[in-house]
Amino acid sequence: MNNDQASGQAVSKKKGSVERFTSSGFILAAIGSSVGLGNMWKFPYITGKHGGAAFFLLFIICLIIVGLPILLAEMTIGRGGRGNASASFFNLTGKKYWGAFGLLSILTAFMIMSYYAVVAGWTFHYTVESFTGLLFQEGSDYKSKFISFASGYWPIFWQAVVMLLTGWILAKGVSGGIEKFNKILIPGFLIILLILMVRSLTLPGAAEGVSFFLKPDFAKLDAESALVALGHAFFSLSLGMGCMLTYGSYVEKRQSLGAATLAIGFGDLVYAFIAGLVIFPTVFSYGLEPGEGVGLAFMALPAAFSQMPFGFFFGGLFFLLLAIAALTSAISILEVPVAYAMHKWQWSRKKSAILISILCFLVGVPSGLSVGGVLGDFHPGGKSIFDWMDFITSYVLMPFGGLVVTLFTGYAWKKAGEEAGLKGFWYKAWMFLLRVVVPILIVCVFLHSVGIIKFSK
Ligand code: PHE
Repeated sequence: MNNDQASGQAVSKKKGSVERFTSSGFILAAIGSSVGLGNMWKFPYITGKHGGAAFFLLFIICLIIVGLPILLAEMTIGRGGRGNASASFFNLTGKKYWGAFGLLSILTAFMIMSYYAVVAGWTFHYTVESFTGLLFQEGSDYKSKFISFASGYWPIFWQAVVMLLTGWILAKGVSGGIEKFNKILIPGFLIILLILMVRSLTLPGAAEGVSFFLKPDFAKLDAESALVALGHAFFSLSLGMGCMLTYGSYVEKRQSLGAATLAIGFGDLVYAFIAGLVIFPTVFSYGLEPGEGVGLAFMALPAAFSQMPFGFFFGGLFFLLLAIAALTSAISILEVPVAYAMHKWQWSRKKSAILISILCFLVGVPSGLSVGGVLGDFHPGGKSIFDWMDFITSYVLMPFGGLVVTLFTGYAWKKAGEEAGLKGFWYKAWMFLLRVVVPILIVCVFLHSVGIIKFSK
């Protein structure tokens, strides 16, 4: 083991050198991580529901005061500590308990990946079914179609495909895998998104959808909207589970982390905005109810595509878009435990990617079978296994991970400003947010999501 390995750096076997992103590769990979299913099926819906452009403004404010400071903190810890999501904390302070807190985010990432692969698998299946036209045969009850698909074993097959693909990309390394694939997938994603945006905005009655999405209605904003916006800013930037920290550990010293933070935040926002312009005009033009998540993507939209000329093609493109969004996020999630295993057990990248993928697949099978499958009726404590995994990770572990990063940067690690390249006003503002504002807000979001704070309407 050389010194780099000892500190927790990912070392490329072939070249014997530490693994690094190029500057543009890093920005694209981080945008790939942040742009995911959250942008495509959650953001448009919550915006429409909470007052359109008014909510959009609120979301931008949350991104600026909570999202971006934590994003910068995560990347700074990664680059300063030059290790995985646990080792970096330890490397910077020499304190074991910080390493242990970091370990929790690795567990979070592993758990998220186990069920994220299930949903990603659905998007793969729907891409194939749509391009081949099979989805649009035999009746137009897309709700039953989804339920019958989810209750079978195909989801497990597609989940395995996702794990295989993600593991394969990670086995190819930071520049040969993560960076290379993001460089192909993200521009491809933007092209498809723009094609779909033109298609949806030119549908008859598109204006109604645009107005639902964007017409500012400040009367709909309330405390609840603020917490929803906050929670989403957090999830959307992939914070609180070591992703951005791990990516940060592969960034060159000369890269400006402040500029990267702005680019990633802006990219995330733009993609979410265009997603709204794709989804609502399409749904409204065909007189359908806009829903959230599964209902929107797998039930309402297929019904719209089935009535559109060349709908199989546009539907195929739409699901391909979801599949790419899910894959580039999955890559960043699985890299967290893969990087950890490489350091902890001195495994090669290949071995780590293969073993972690297999393990994660096995852990995810019960989630895959619990959305209507053989475990569909198993609801311990009132939630299916899938919902439990989602609840524990998104509502408990991720906010906790975010809090650890915030407190670590604000209080424990004195040299964060130097590493982040911030001085004077910007440093003071960043510290004020990390020390005071962000921790308070995270605790509020947490208490709200677990139901301790409630707002009555
Ligand atoms: N940011 C992704 C999205 O918007 C989800 C994600 C969360 C990805 C956490 C990685 C880590 O869908």
